[in-house]
Amino acid sequence: MSNVSPHVFPTYDFSLPMFVRGEGAYVYTEEGNRYIDLTSGIGVTCMGHSHPALVATLQEQSTQLWHLSNLFTDGRQERVAARLCEHSHAEQVFFCNSGSEAIEASIKLARRYFQQRGQSERYRIVAARHSFHGRTMTAIAASGQKKLTDGFAPLPSGFDHITFGVLEEADRALTAHTAAVLIEPIQGEGGIHVADDVYLQGLATLCQQRGCLLIVDEVQCGMGRSGKLFAHQWSAIKPNIIAMAKGLGGGFPVGACLADKQTAQGFTKGSHGSTFGGNPLAMAVADKVLELLFAKDFLPTMMGNAKKLHDGLTQLCQTYPQILHPWRGKGLMIGLPCVIGNHHVIEAFHQNNVLAVPAGCNVVRLLPPLTITAEVIAESLTAMDKACAQLARDNQHLKQSNKHSGA
Ligand SMILES: Cc1ncc(COP(=O)(O)O)c(C=O)c1O
Repeated sequence: MSNVSPHVFPTYDFSLPMFVRGEGAYVYTEEGNRYIDLTSGIGVTCMGHSHPALVATLQEQSTQLWHLSNLFTDGRQERVAARLCEHSHAEQVFFCNSGSEAIEASIKLARRYFQQRGQSERYRIVAARHSFHGRTMTAIAASGQKKLTDGFAPLPSGFDHITFGVLEEADRALTAHTAAVLIEPIQGEGGIHVADDVYLQGLATLCQQRGCLLIVDEVQCGMGRSGKLFAHQWSAIKPNIIAMAKGLGGGFPVGACLADKQTAQGFTKGSHGSTFGGNPLAMAVADKVLELLFAKDFLPTMMGNAKKLHDGLTQLCQTYPQILHPWRGKGLMIGLPCVIGNHHVIEAFHQNNVLAVPAGCNVVRLLPPLTITAEVIAESLTAMDKACAQLARDNQHLKQSNKHSGA
């Protein structure tokens, strides 16, 4: 089923029926059919759909103040920034509206930091092949993937690419012209690849030794998804710049670029800006999302539930080795590498009322809301088991009919 509209650019293939309502981990069609949403709008609705506290916050803020521009303040940016800094080693925050903009700000900040220090020869950014940093010209140049850059030349220059997880390549790639290394602590679009501690710590040390900055892209893996506010915190590193977005607004568009005080000096008055960034509506919601996330039991409860999902998926992958390889990921950022085409698995999940999203390396990505309960996890595991059993039967039939036809 496809919902392609003649009046919307065909950049997306809207499949499935239209959804008109969401509540917690569920979304509903107009006819009232219920689906378990294990995508969270690709890692965005971290508190689930229509969280009552977020609804109330947005409703209340909408009666107070919608927009001011960054010529004036209502004090909310300061409050959200203070919360983020309190729970990380960052000291200053710039607000924007999306992940791509957070990446743009991060790269601009790194380059200008060195320009301000009289080191304008340091402008190159080292990033990983098969990474994903968004869709602006700079972000696609950073990822360097042909499928993202095709047709958009000329791209911004100054990017070098290394293999994710291979420290020796980073060692060779860093030169006197490198401004920063840009890395996702857990690659999302690329297929849920978790950078191990040795790699992240090695990158941080290399950057320090060579005098360049470390930027982490926490747009997808941040905001508690790995079990900590930021995924890099598991490795106890202190990157100079952190890009974040997605879950920060729980569904309201907002992004942020965080930095330590020294690095933040790269931006001076008038050097960067955004009309909507840090808008009162976005800040009110982000403030509430962070309040919920930092509540004492929130992340431990989430990790307890994540463990139940992990255990269930281990079982699922063992039961259907003809469909799934062992799962990988951290917290509630999970990849199911597929033996058959990942689109077949996603479609089978959909037919069993479970929503999942594809990722690179033939992976099915699960990004459930951080608030998903043990009951809904059990329900989704039952549905995914049913889907895999159907696929296994179909696969068996296909093999048999191929054998009979001599194919
Ligand atoms: C790791 C990462 N960085 C950046 C982005 C870009 O974010 P946005 O789509 O909000 O511009 C994404 C989006 O999926 C992402 O996963």
